[in-house]
Amino acid sequence: MGKKEWRDYFMTTYNFSAGPSSLPTEVMTQITQELTKNQATHMSILEISHRTPQFENILDEAKASLKSLLDLPDNYKVMFLSGGGTTQFEMVPMNLATRLKKIAILDSGNFAHKPIGAAEALNVTVDVPGTTRSIKYRELPHLPAQFDDTQYDYVHLVTNNTIEGTTYHQEDIPDVQHLVADMSSNILAEPYDFKKFDLIFAGAQKIWGLLALH
Ligand SMILES: Cc1ncc(COP(=O)(O)O)c(C=O)c1O
Repeated sequence: MGKKEWRDYFMTTYNFSAGPSSLPTEVMTQITQELTKNQATHMSILEISHRTPQFENILDEAKASLKSLLDLPDNYKVMFLSGGGTTQFEMVPMNLATRLKKIAILDSGNFAHKPIGAAEALNVTVDVPGTTRSIKYRELPHLPAQFDDTQYDYVHLVTNNTIEGTTYHQEDIPDVQHLVADMSSNILAEPYDFKKFDLIFAGAQKIWGLLALH
């Protein structure tokens, strides 16, 4: 047998990356058991139709758990959709931008540039009412005091700027008629009053596993 390396002394390697990352052992064990045979169906989740009551129950339970974890108001809906944050850069303006108004995106860095580009590619008029580009995004941009939100279908902000390392906490969230937030890299990491938001999005593949470790 060769010489032991430092990693041989550890039971587990923890992946702390912003994408798919470590899960607690209990979760992995339950997934492994239920993947081969679900207690209720005696079949694997991979073997049943997504239209069966058994699958719908699992989906409903997952939605209810997430709603409770986030403490979402009753009139908010959870949707599990295909694609990640990048898909939402297009889906949000496709669904919420009208031809009558513009949209506003606070320029807090890399993940604000992408939805600006995606909306413009759809011929949506995008205003940038605040940017901290000149200071290399070391601080967060805010809406100007005179900001007229009636001109906009919605304001979009990125709560956690993954690359720049800046975060809009609850007290930084502006009061506007319609607010959309990209929470891809901090959903469930800190509490927000979701009544201030009309729509939030995040990818299930990102940080939830890591949070479950805490
Ligand atoms: C803040 C933020 N928004 C959007 C994305 C893109 O998300 P996805 O990889 O799910 O398309 C990322 C990816 O890291 C992100 O950190």
